[in-house]
Amino acid sequence: MNETLELLNKRKSVRVYEERPVPKEVKEEIIKAAMRAPTAGNMMLYSIIDITDQKIKDRLAETCDNQPFIAKAPLVLMFFADYQRNYDYFKLCGVAEDLGISIDEIRTPEAGDLMLACSDALIAAQNSVIAAESLGLGSCYIGDIMENYEVHKELLNLPDFVFPIAMLVFGYPTEQQKERKQPERFDKKFIVFENQYRHLTGDEFDEMLSKIHSIMKENNQGKLEKNYGKVLYTRKYTAEFTKEMNRSVREVLKNWSSKNEQ
Ligand SMILES: Cc1cc2nc3c(=O)[nH]c(=O)nc-3n(C[C@H](O)[C@H](O)[C@H](O)COP(=O)(O)O)c2cc1C
Repeated sequence: MNETLELLNKRKSVRVYEERPVPKEVKEEIIKAAMRAPTAGNMMLYSIIDITDQKIKDRLAETCDNQPFIAKAPLVLMFFADYQRNYDYFKLCGVAEDLGISIDEIRTPEAGDLMLACSDALIAAQNSVIAAESLGLGSCYIGDIMENYEVHKELLNLPDFVFPIAMLVFGYPTEQQKERKQPERFDKKFIVFENQYRHLTGDEFDEMLSKIHSIMKENNQGKLEKNYGKVLYTRKYTAEFTKEMNRSVREVLKNWSSKNEQ
């Protein structure tokens, strides 16, 4: 196995960090790697905010479903789907005049533009994860950044066409974190199909999830629910944080809608 594959195969999320800062040069390398990621049409439809203000980290630890380790992370990078930059440029560059339309008739970004910008932002984010890993840092995504849109909009001065799709916290892993077992994945046969999508049968779900059950048993994680589906449904799919995420994203989508189709 080559070094890159080894790195990819050994990565795991890290949520407890040593109390030492991330040197400026290391941060620069991580950001540089993010910016080398593939990007649709080389447009770089994303922005990154480096959260250095402890007060903002503290607030994010609360607004992102109360996860205190966010406040303790020496490096916090937020990745935004950003169509505002292009939209601002369209208004400034004289495109309206060239096309014989008014500035107000310039199309505002829509859901498809948002999806493309999210792809860009997430691909850049993952490059930063791998770069960090190669430099001895651990990282963890914080999906809860999609919640509380209005709060984050105000906290970070976000315009309408900038959406926080991912937050990453980084730091040097503690010894205990380095030794922590890497979480298992589902078997490839349940995830990778050939040519066509395929629904899984009940037996296949049982087989797919049996690994998770045995791990939960092994780790003695509280009372083991016989029905993993119920755990998944109540603790992830219909949990309060999920409800908030869906409410928040509905609010975001109100901006990214066709205000003036051409
Ligand atoms: C989109 C996304 C959102 C996530 N959000 C959180 C989060 O809010 N808090 C957290 O502790 N971990 C979060 N994680 C990390 C996952 O829990 C972790 O990747 C998963 O348990 C698998 O573990 P591994 O990364 O160590 O392989 C997130 C990961 C992704 C990809």
